[in-house]
This record gives sequence, C-alpha cells and structure tokens, in this order.
Amino acid sequence: MKPIKVGILGLGTVGGGTVNVLKRNAAEIERRIGRELIITRASAKDLTKSRICNTDGIELTSNPNDIINDPDIDIVLELIGGAGPVKDMVLAAINNGKHVVTANKSLIALHGNEIFTAASAKGVIVAFEAAVAGGIPIIKAIREGLSGNRIQWLAGIINGTGNFILTEMRDKGRDFADVLAEAQALGYAEADPTFDVEGIDAAHKLTILAAIAFGIPLQFDKVYTEGITGITRTDVEYAEQLGYRIKHLGIARQMPNGIELRVHPTLIPERRLIANVNGVMNAVVVKGDAVGPSLYYGAGAGAEPTASAVVADVVDVARALTSDPENRVPHLAFQANQLANIPV
Ligand code: NDP
Ligand code: HSE
Repeated sequence: MKPIKVGILGLGTVGGGTVNVLKRNAAEIERRIGRELIITRASAKDLTKSRICNTDGIELTSNPNDIINDPDIDIVLELIGGAGPVKDMVLAAINNGKHVVTANKSLIALHGNEIFTAASAKGVIVAFEAAVAGGIPIIKAIREGLSGNRIQWLAGIINGTGNFILTEMRDKGRDFADVLAEAQALGYAEADPTFDVEGIDAAHKLTILAAIAFGIPLQFDKVYTEGITGITRTDVEYAEQLGYRIKHLGIARQMPNGIELRVHPTLIPERRLIANVNGVMNAVVVKGDAVGPSLYYGAGAGAEPTASAVVADVVDVARALTSDPENRVPHLAFQANQLANIPV
C-alpha cells in the first residue's frame, strides 16, 4: 500500500511537537494504521529560525500553498493559528480534497459551521481534538465514549495558561504579569495572550464542547465571557483563608429554555478534585444521564501533550483512508447539518 503523505502548516510549539512525535513513534503509528505515514512537506514563516524539531527529510517552504496544492499530500495539518488567512488556507485544502487536522479553536469556534459544511460536500474529514484541552481526548470522550448519554452539563478548567497563572499566584505569591511571561516562554500562551487571560480562548473551547455535547450550532457570540485579569494576589489569599480556590471555569448546562454557556472565575471548595488541578493541567467534568459525572484530566497545553491529540487525529484519518471509503468520515467530521437548532 502507498504511504500516507502529510503536509504541515506551522512549525512552532505544536507543529514542532507534532513532527517530533510522528518521527519518534513512526513504527508504532505504522503498526496502528497498517501502512507507512510520512511528513513530506512543512511550512513556516521564517525558515532561518531554529526549531524544536528535527526537519531532516522534510521539504520546507515559506509558502503554505506549496502544501495545500501538492497533489501528493493526503492530510494537511493546520498548526499556524488564528482565524484570519488560515480560514482560506483550510477551505482551499478541503477544496483540493485534502483531509485536515487542526489544533485551532478560534478557527473552529468562529468558522466551523462553514468549514464542516465544505468538508461534508467534499467528503473529507476535518478533525480537531487538539483544539480543546490540549492532550486530553475530551472530544472523543464526549462524542464516542458518552454517545449513549443525554449530557446534562459539563464544566472544566480549559485554559492552561490561566490555570498556570492562578496556581503560581497562590503557591508562590508571584505577580500575574511575571507568570504570564513565563507561560509565553514555555509556549503555552496564544499568539495574542489576551485570548488566554480575558477568557476568549476558553470561550472558543466551550463553544466547541457544547456543540458536540448538546448538538447545538457553534455559537461563540452566545458565551458569557470573563477572564482572570481582575484577580489579584489578595483575592487568591482571601479565597485560601476561606477554604476555597479561585479557578477559571467553562460551564455549559442544559436549562429549560436552552443551553447556558459561560466562562468566568469561580470559587471552588478546596476539597473538590477540580480545585486541585494545578499549573498547566486541565480537567473537565461531564455529567451524563446514564454515566453520572465523569472526570477527564491532563496537560492542557504544550508541545508534546498537544501533539499527542494532533497525532491521534492523524491516526484516525489515516485509518479511515485505509478502510473502505464508504464507511469513513461521519464519526470524525463534525456535521453542521446534524445539529439541532437549540437556542442558547
Ligand atoms: P506558534 O506561534 O508557536 O507557531 C505558529 C507557526 O505558524 C510558526 O511556525 C510560524 O512560523 C507559522 N506561521 C505563522 N504565520 C504563518 C504563515 N502566514 N504561513 C506559514 N506559517 C506561518 O503557535 P502554536 O504552535 O503555539 O499554536 C498553533 C495552533 O495550535 C494555534 O491555533 C493554537 O491556538 C493551537 N494550540 C496551541 C497549544 C499550545 O500549547 N501552544 C495547545 C493547543 C492548541 P515561524 O515559526 O517561522 O514564525
Ligand atoms: N493557550 C492555550 C492554553 C493553549 O493555555 O490553554 C491550549 O489550547
């Protein structure tokens, strides 16, 4: 069987981590897919920059179109970020019949309905596990593991940078700005870190989770959004004295008239599991009518934890390509036309 060919747009934290995981675990991945998978091309803006990955054997370009228009590439990984020019890149890749894997929550939250409609029309897969909660396979858990449940609510810490800041403020008395700078240096923060600290990144992720859990359209503009910029060290200390931890949560709940969506700081009793999720770790509790509450925990950001989710999507797409084409797609592609129009 011919190898599956992958092209990568973006070689930063997530792109670099993905190259490392795909290369290091090539033998396991080949065994799981049943055929070889190779990265043929990758793009970055500045080809002179040093990288966290070894790009030997990969043709590098600064022009994403060299990948999008390459007829030999089966799967395009969009690991650039943002919802501007990248939207056109993803739509062009779909239009060229490429399957797409992305870690880009803003793109999916803002333009997912259009992207999934285009993907359905072309019969290609768009997979986005890495877009929510880094390495935690939360999308797969809700869509597949909990598919027999009516979801009643979900709540979680879904921004690693924000949780890292709140944890360091509490444990070490550090300043907000100082910890944010460290989160940026570690590659956790968004290109525009106000997305992390103003709750926008969490709102993007909640939009996606709610669409999957409740079958509603992606409706980012319906999320009540508040960040952590108003939280001071004094707030954190007072909360501690009263037996609470301040955590930034994303919450989606089935209410009598629709789905309530909100992200904001909350006070959580310190004995609760979620109050003890620290640093860059994320955790999501999902309450289903059959399973009851179930908890998902893991690294919410960073090169290899995020690459773990990207590569899992690549393996899923590759398996679908290796199986009967009649039987592929629906469980992976999020189908806009399957959504009920429930008001938020
Ligand atoms: P980085 O800024 O580290 O990497 C972005 C990459 O895209 C860089 O390699 C950059 O090139 C390249 N790039 C930027 N503009 C262009 C362009 N016009 N054409 C070609 N390449 C371009 O971002 P991250 O890796 O952190 O994030 C990537 C995506 O993953 C984002 O959507 C983010 O939200 C998401 N994500 C990030 C996580 C994390 O922990 N960082 C976790 C989960 C999701 P160059 O290197 O030359 O500047
Ligand atoms: N900036 C994001 C965060 C990256 O800190 O959670 C992971 O989505």
